[in-house]
Amino acid sequence: MMTQVIFIQKFLFIILLSCIDCSIYIYNARNSPSVEFYDCIYYQSVPYCRRPLKPISLERNRKEWNCSHNGIIHSFYSLWMKNISINTILHKWKSSIDKVEEYIYYISQSIQSNEDSEYICECIHQRSFGMNCEYLLADGATFDDSIVAKFFSNSTMNLYGGDLVCYVTLQCDYGLLCLDWRDICDNEQQCMFGHDEENCDKIEFNECENDEYRCMNGMCIPDEYFLDGSFDCMDMSDEKEHFHDMECPYQLANFYCDDRICPPGQFSCADGQCIKYRLGGRNPEQSFLSCVNQRNQFYMCEMNDKGNLKTLSNGQCYKVLDEKNRTMNEYCNYLIGCQFLDHIMSDCSCKANKTCVILLEKFCLSLFPISYPPGGIIAPYIFESFHMSHNPPKLLLSVTLNGTIKCRGHLKYFSFKTKYSFYENLREAESTLCQSIPFLSIISDGGYDEFCYNDSKTFNNRSYNVYDICHSENQCVSAYRIRDGISNCLNRNDEEEEDNEIVLKTCSTARYHRFRCSTDETTCLYANMLGDGKYHCKNKYDESWMGIHILLSRLNCTHEFKDDCQLFRRYIELSWKLNVTNDSNQENLVTKQIPFRSYCDTFWDLASKEDENTTMCQLAWICSKEQWRCSSGHCIDILWVLDGEWDCPDASDEENIFHSDYYHRETFAFKEKFQEQYARQPFDKICNLTIEYPCLPINTSEYSNNMRPCIDFKLIGNGQIDCIGGYDERNVLEHCSRSGTSLGYDFKCVSSNTCISYEKICQDRCLHDEDDALWCNAYQVSEKDPGLIFFQCLNNSYEWNRQCDHIYDCSNGEDEYMCDRKQFQEIIYRKQKELSLKTKKHIVYLSQFPNNTNITKIINTSNVKSSNFVSKNTIPIPYWCNRGIGMLMSNNSIVCFCPPQ
Ligand SMILES: *[C@@H]1O[C@H](CO)[C@@H](O)[C@H](O)[C@H]1NC(C)=O
Ligand SMILES: *[C@@H]1O[C@H](CO)[C@@H](O)[C@H](O)[C@H]1NC(C)=O
Ligand SMILES: *[C@@H]1O[C@H](CO)[C@@H](O)[C@H](O)[C@H]1NC(C)=O
Ligand SMILES: *[C@@H]1O[C@H](CO)[C@@H](O)[C@H](O)[C@H]1NC(C)=O
Ligand SMILES: *[C@@H]1O[C@H](CO)[C@@H](O)[C@H](O)[C@H]1NC(C)=O
Ligand SMILES: *[C@@H]1O[C@H](CO)[C@@H](O)[C@H](O)[C@H]1NC(C)=O
Ligand SMILES: *[C@@H]1O[C@H](CO)[C@@H](O)[C@H](O)[C@H]1NC(C)=O
Ligand SMILES: *[C@@H]1O[C@H](CO)[C@@H](O)[C@H](O)[C@H]1NC(C)=O
Repeated sequence: MMTQVIFIQKFLFIILLSCIDCSIYIYNARNSPSVEFYDCIYYQSVPYCRRPLKPISLERNRKEWNCSHNGIIHSFYSLWMKNISINTILHKWKSSIDKVEEYIYYISQSIQSNEDSEYICECIHQRSFGMNCEYLLADGATFDDSIVAKFFSNSTMNLYGGDLVCYVTLQCDYGLLCLDWRDICDNEQQCMFGHDEENCDKIEFNECENDEYRCMNGMCIPDEYFLDGSFDCMDMSDEKEHFHDMECPYQLANFYCDDRICPPGQFSCADGQCIKYRLGGRNPEQSFLSCVNQRNQFYMCEMNDKGNLKTLSNGQCYKVLDEKNRTMNEYCNYLIGCQFLDHIMSDCSCKANKTCVILLEKFCLSLFPISYPPGGIIAPYIFESFHMSHNPPKLLLSVTLNGTIKCRGHLKYFSFKTKYSFYENLREAESTLCQSIPFLSIISDGGYDEFCYNDSKTFNNRSYNVYDICHSENQCVSAYRIRDGISNCLNRNDEEEEDNEIVLKTCSTARYHRFRCSTDETTCLYANMLGDGKYHCKNKYDESWMGIHILLSRLNCTHEFKDDCQLFRRYIELSWKLNVTNDSNQENLVTKQIPFRSYCDTFWDLASKEDENTTMCQLAWICSKEQWRCSSGHCIDILWVLDGEWDCPDASDEENIFHSDYYHRETFAFKEKFQEQYARQPFDKICNLTIEYPCLPINTSEYSNNMRPCIDFKLIGNGQIDCIGGYDERNVLEHCSRSGTSLGYDFKCVSSNTCISYEKICQDRCLHDEDDALWCNAYQVSEKDPGLIFFQCLNNSYEWNRQCDHIYDCSNGEDEYMCDRKQFQEIIYRKQKELSLKTKKHIVYLSQFPNNTNITKIINTSNVKSSNFVSKNTIPIPYWCNRGIGMLMSNNSIVCFCPPQ
């Protein structure tokens, strides 16, 4: 038996190799008392399987023989008799590998009996497959195409939707469309009696501790997580970055999509995508506003802009393809579409000879009035039906409103008919119903609180922050929503509040996390309103840094580039401290905060240059282990050591490398390189190169033979100019005309504080002779070729030698002095290095993290607060075709083939 199996597998393997794309191969289809997944199809080694929520018992086709989708049943015995090849069964019939294996085993036996022979299905329908041909692929697609379309491309190819994720913990009358967990406490009553909006004040009016950030929905996260570059609030309100939910429908498992709640007033697609207009899919111009999974169109798929969707019995939309054989009902819907919705229907043959109405009257009159959608969908209490008027032919809408909803202080029961569609906005419908519609009865218990919970207390026993800003409406919203940048009241009262005192008070405990435009215009803006491209402040401080030209949208605080996150936090905090008026310009009052790693990196990030203060770097800075530490305490890339250019302010990565503590550690690696780079230096016969640096002194205009053109290494980079042109301080002095960058190879005229660029040294001269005479008197630029410079040796030989040609012509080698700059180097000194450093991805070593700290404990405590409210554990794990590929079954239900979680 064992060898048999191996033989079969080998055999199959060989056959499979010979034909890869031409069929569908189903694995794991065998019956078993307990399976976690079954009917797997491999795509690039990933198994896409049916994965029930919990293990099930799989017992198929033992008793009744059945092949769906017109599949043909063959018993093993008849196959054997007809001598049908295994190749055919395997590649053409699309049953399952397990079945084929069984058959191979069957024919390998010595006797083939007809008695207990099994059967195998031949799946005839082009798109059907499966042990019983029960699955039907999407339109013309292969399984591979479906996967590519769904997960790897942006294609809007219409795949079948999957089972809805329903929030089952709350039982209520929600009409047709089951609840998404995001529908709970979203300020819209999706349940009759508003059961989904019960006790929501607990979170809406929640108060956080002082060291916490209060998310837009009232949840709390630790303060450190505010503006740290990654989303922590379920409403994404703690970051400046905007969440791109369009990716959610196309993604496999994604924590952010699964846990995200929608912004106020938006409709949840139940997969992390949120849309602004529920009915967007109906309007061709707004079809991009529709849920990718079409949840907003469920039960009314026919209203889709393209008119090619049909509603399945479970409400999902199904793309009509080869539907020539319609049921009567479908046919009538089609005629209605042709006659009345002509902007959305194509392919209407009755339209051409104007017979739609005739056909409607002939076949469909009995259907009217048509309930469409067939129940409450926008709200459980809104029912629409259509009548047909004959002359002229017209569809007449009538809306029945019949239900009970929460109003302020009471529940209201109403039941009436109207001609108008109510449902552009559910909150608006609720508001109208509560205020102006006659009621059948009023129940005083169960409504929203009449006085906005003004004497309620939070979990941590704090008073609610109440200011009844939307006073003419049903709901009470937290006072933290006033002037926060998002309108919450239907009449926008909350965003139009102009009384500074009120906002000052309602925002008081949120100040460190909210932005105030100015003292004249007190706001309580969320961080993600900064730099979002819309003006929320009259002085535009929400878009540009203190009103000046730096655009906040250009500053980086994203999951990828977090450099400016601290800057944002500080900007927000300072907005409350500075007395900015609407037209002041106080840029300098805000000092820039820089990332930790920008300290002691040899590049100035602060105008004060304090980030590169040698005293501090030497005293307190520690380099990471892959860096080189200068004697000055600065940290540089180890590849920059002995590359011929000073990176340490004190040159301890080049000439002065003997002074670096690190030199001793790395002796072998660098000795050779040093020899190569600095074997000869100007004045090396005079200076002691172990302790001295060759340098023509300042304040001297004449060379004399007893001059020692050398300085102690210790004088390099100490801030005092010792060498002509500031040569010893090239990394420490700021350039005269390029603020924020160092002098580099340019020549500093000390007394006039001007700089001459390297190419122009001695062609342009300093204002005062004493600054450059010593050097420039010996200098002559070739008239023919300005790049060619001749140099007269300082000890008065009258011979002119080429400068910087690597040949030491003068006896002291001074013709090779000031030649450090390589040819073709960038104009701005060390710019490439700066760029590469600042854009580098930084590795963070956490080995220093205390070993005995219980990390899980930390995480758990930080989560305690949020789990008080919408406990994540009660939310069902989304399990639907968002993560997989949907297949249509013959009973019109949809099943999903999903990759492992
Ligand atoms: C993907 O689709 C989104 C939304 O339709 C669009 O903004 C984006 O440009 C598309 N990306 C590609 C690569 O086509
Ligand atoms: C439509 O139904 C007829 C009879 O039921 C059948 O013969 C025909 O094949 C069907 N056509 C399609 C496209 O399914
Ligand atoms: C109108 O067109 C349809 C489809 O082409 C055809 O079946 C029908 O007989 C036509 N009716 C008349 C009155 O011409
Ligand atoms: C209104 O709804 C109630 C409860 O669902 C039902 O009993 C009643 O018949 C409905 N009334 C109308 C006029 O549809
Ligand atoms: C933000 O990051 C991008 C990518 O690194 C960079 O090009 C851009 O200059 C940064 N913006 C600022 C203001 O630093
Ligand atoms: C800003 O103004 C307020 C009140 O007008 C005052 O209390 C506060 O001291 C001022 N702050 C500064 C920094 O001037
Ligand atoms: C560097 O920091 C020290 C200590 O804070 C300070 O005394 C010194 O003035 C600073 N140096 C410069 C150049 O700012
Ligand atoms: C150079 O200075 C070092 C350290 O002071 C000393 O040991 C060495 O003898 C000097 N070399 C010469 C050639 O003077």
